[in-house]
Amino acid sequence: MLLRFPDILQNPNLSLLQQFAGAFMKDINLGVLLIDLSFHLVDISDTACRILGLSRDKVLGEPLNAIFASLPAEHQLVDRSILDGVIVRNHAMSWMNSDERYDLLLDSNILKDGDGRIVGAYIMFKDVTNLRSLEEQVKRSDRLAMIGQIAAGTAHEIRNPLTSIKGFMQVLNNTFREKEMDKERTYTEIMLTEINRINDLVSEFLLLGKRKDVSYHEVDIHTTLREILPIIHNEAILHNVNVYYEATEDTPKVVADRELLKQVFLNISKNGIEAMSDGGSLTIGVRTETEDRVVLVEIRDSGPGIPNFLIDKIFDPFFTTKSEGTGLGLSVCQRIVHDMGGTIRVSSKGFGTTFTVCLPFS
Ligand SMILES: Nc1ncnc2c1ncn2[C@@H]1O[C@H](COP(=O)(O)OP(=O)(O)OP(=O)(O)O)[C@@H](O)[C@H]1O
Ligand SMILES: [Mg+2]
Repeated sequence: MLLRFPDILQNPNLSLLQQFAGAFMKDINLGVLLIDLSFHLVDISDTACRILGLSRDKVLGEPLNAIFASLPAEHQLVDRSILDGVIVRNHAMSWMNSDERYDLLLDSNILKDGDGRIVGAYIMFKDVTNLRSLEEQVKRSDRLAMIGQIAAGTAHEIRNPLTSIKGFMQVLNNTFREKEMDKERTYTEIMLTEINRINDLVSEFLLLGKRKDVSYHEVDIHTTLREILPIIHNEAILHNVNVYYEATEDTPKVVADRELLKQVFLNISKNGIEAMSDGGSLTIGVRTETEDRVVLVEIRDSGPGIPNFLIDKIFDPFFTTKSEGTGLGLSVCQRIVHDMGGTIRVSSKGFGTTFTVCLPFS
């Protein structure tokens, strides 16, 4: 309700309003400045005086440009243009006052009388310094979590080649035992112990480090799969699993980082093999969907499958049902494939699991 001049004199509530205005300027936890048409300061709240480092008695009635005369134009709290009706909402600015830095969120608007004439303007600001530092803290802990994930991802990538070295070493060790080559057998046993030590270290400390540079080229899926088949076979032998590879002709090339792609197929195959404790079969097949312009690599196992209530979680970092797992295998795979513009699907209906890696062709 707007009060015109004669009404104001007769309004019994006026003293209440005046008292409220006085209390508002004194108690409110907001910086408030009232300005008249000639850009002079009419009133200022106690909070504004404290934050801006002003003494109320010294600044009341003074022109604003004189009050902030020592500041360059870009650091002025407010510009004369607010009297022309320039409205400011949630303008973030910082203010230095005797070595204390304040982060302020500022609003300003004009004041009009009953006839719509501009009579002045107000500026209000809130001290959001604490909120800002809270925001910084959240950002910092986000960054830490990210570093942790990168570190863990790197550790995972070290463990993969280590697993194949270990597998081959075990094969050598068995051969030496069969052939009664005791000296060589002792060497391989020492090497195996050392590999286990590295493995434990990597799992425990989750190394900090930078990911290797990714380089995308045209990649032939079959060549890539053939290169890792011996490693998969070797892992499979240890688990009494048969591996089948269904090679198809004329598969278009995909654009990918070959080494990373190998890691994806290895991780998924390894999961399949690890799921089959009493033996079984792992089948790797390749299909082309010409209409959707994708190459599909299907890795099927005859393991126990993944229960429905877990299937949404398996791609989450650190989700694992294995006592020695890091739970990073699939989340790393998903990130790699996603970066190549592809997707990974999983289907598991009670018996066996199929992972399908879809990669767009070049
Ligand atoms: N083929 C599969 N059959 C059954 N369960 C699977 C299969 N693949 C993945 N899972 C489930 O998904 C979980 C997450 O797999 P992921 O590869 O991310 O981690 P992990 O294998 O547990 O650990 P890490 O890869 O670090 O050794 C596994 O712990 C397992 O429970
Ligand atoms: Mg895994």
